[in-house]
Amino acid sequence: MMRLRISSTIVVVFLMIQTGFLLFMYARRSSFMPQSEEKPSRVHILILSSWRSGSSFVGQLFSQHPDVFYLMEPAWHVWVTMYQNSAKVLHMAVRDLVRSVFKCDMSVFDAYMPWKRNLSDLFQWAVSRALCSAPACDSFQRTDITNEMACKTLCGKYPFSKVEEACKTYSHIVLKEVRFFDLTVLYPLLTDLSLNLKIIHLVRDPRAVAKSREQSVKALARDNGIVLSTNGTKVEDSKYKVLQEICSSHVQIYETATQKPPRFLKDRYLMIRFEDLVQDPLSEIRDMYTFADLRLTPRLESWIYNITHGQGPGKKREAFKITSRDAVNVSQAWRNILSFQKIKKVQEVCKGAINMLGYKLLDSEKEQKDLSLDLVLPRQRNQFSWSSFNPKN
Ligand SMILES: *[C@@H]1O[C@H](CO)[C@@H](O)[C@H](O)[C@H]1NC(C)=O
Ligand SMILES: *[C@@H]1O[C@H](CO)[C@@H](O)[C@H](O)[C@H]1NC(C)=O
Ligand SMILES: *[C@@H]1O[C@H](CO)[C@@H](O)[C@H](O)[C@H]1NC(C)=O
Ligand SMILES: *[C@@H]1O[C@H](CO)[C@@H](O)[C@H](O)[C@H]1NC(C)=O
Repeated sequence: MMRLRISSTIVVVFLMIQTGFLLFMYARRSSFMPQSEEKPSRVHILILSSWRSGSSFVGQLFSQHPDVFYLMEPAWHVWVTMYQNSAKVLHMAVRDLVRSVFKCDMSVFDAYMPWKRNLSDLFQWAVSRALCSAPACDSFQRTDITNEMACKTLCGKYPFSKVEEACKTYSHIVLKEVRFFDLTVLYPLLTDLSLNLKIIHLVRDPRAVAKSREQSVKALARDNGIVLSTNGTKVEDSKYKVLQEICSSHVQIYETATQKPPRFLKDRYLMIRFEDLVQDPLSEIRDMYTFADLRLTPRLESWIYNITHGQGPGKKREAFKITSRDAVNVSQAWRNILSFQKIKKVQEVCKGAINMLGYKLLDSEKEQKDLSLDLVLPRQRNQFSWSSFNPKN
């Protein structure tokens, strides 16, 4: 009798738990149900960053995922074609191109390269695993980790139409752009019902960016001219005027997204600091993947381990070498290379960004050289509470 009573109690409890669970799942599901038939099933991710901030590396973390169609800087074509305009004027054309590419409509490139014939006509095409594997190119599998050199040799002559054909077979479209300086320019894409846009805003300590920019002065000169609106004249950024623009754009973007953001930005903005990524790659990558509705596969995990530890095939050219010892080395290198004079100048033009993004200003050369002094302050997540918003319109 006793035993029977206990087991029926257990059954009742079990049924209650199960019912609760089902109700919970149903509620969750319906809150995620599309509001209308137009709602897309694809996920669109924009990696919003700036030159020399680690965005190629972050791009690769997405590009190598078998569910992702990735393009690096498609709007490069806009800037190269219309180099006499300012970044501000080109915002609209860049946004239009990004919208089209998210929709896998590659006819948008007609305006910028009417001669286009092959995959290899597209800027940086070979860093896209999707353009190196089926259906774009037969030399690799979608689940392969591809490398730029091998892909360049084997896949360049496939017709340009493969870009669109491949794009349409993916659930996630990821684009990396350094050519947006204002978050509000993206509002029409965020409210576009045919898109499901999420933004990963990747930032890096402006002093490290300054050091890295000094090592590629020539390569940046044309883009600098566009940022400073010089009507096609190339500029070397010796006075950090471009860096100032970049810093103020990061402030604008971060501020807009975190202080009184519009409702449609909810769950659609994630800020990532390059230094945190270098310090703890797997944890930051997991955050980005979760945000993007992607799953980490064992193969990707092994590849990420390899590239962050300088291991695996092709390590010489490809590896983003950061062992835990090197991690600090890489992100602190500027402290040994830049003069304190330059650091002061960068801090002057980027003070707002340095403070807002959570880095510590240096007061003296002594502090600069004391590498035990950590300049990356802990992330302050959830400064802004969405709970103050009414989730319904
Ligand atoms: C593009 O493709 C055509 C034919 O498909 C080929 O003749 C040409 O060499 C290719 N161009 C490049 C740059 O690979
Ligand atoms: C920009 O440069 C072009 C020639 O390179 C010139 O024709 C045009 O007048 C210039 N525009 C302005 C606003 O200076
Ligand atoms: C990681 O490196 C090991 C050792 O070199 C190699 O066997 C493995 O295939 C690599 N993994 C990936 C996914 O590249
Ligand atoms: C980084 O490592 C190199 C040698 O591997 C060393 O010479 C250099 O001082 C290190 N830099 C920092 C910032 O620790």
